[in-house]
Amino acid sequence: MNFEPLLSAAWQVRENAHAPYSRFSVGAALLAEDGRIFTGCNVENLSFGLTVCAERAAVFAAVAAGAKRFRALAVVSDSREPVSPCGACRQVLAEFCEELPIRTTNLQGEEFEACLSVLLPRARAGILGA
Ligand code: THU
Repeated sequence: MNFEPLLSAAWQVRENAHAPYSRFSVGAALLAEDGRIFTGCNVENLSFGLTVCAERAAVFAAVAAGAKRFRALAVVSDSREPVSPCGACRQVLAEFCEELPIRTTNLQGEEFEACLSVLLPRARAGILGA
């Protein structure tokens, strides 16, 4: 898997993050099976709980454009260690894919890589018999 185009898209969209409260900007880029790349950034709100992470924003942009099958996800953040997607984002991603390769990096280029099924095993187990 060549993550370079995805990482560069995530790096770029990070510039658009709305993060006045945490001052922690995140960019995400999702590669759809048809080759399209969908991006998202975190969008915070004065009512903190309404914040949407970059990863979920990317999923929602993809679904709105008709893409529901994905090959890979890249995330870029300015953190001491590369982030890994939060539990809510893992569950939303798991709605659409099990074996999604994920690479995250910080601005220094340190990397973390994992598959979604490792970050969130048994995502569908027990929910309405799925
Ligand atoms: N955030 C993301 O967008 N993605 C992650 O993987 C980690 C956290 C956002 C949510 C919030 O706006 C800020 O980073 C601090 O948690």
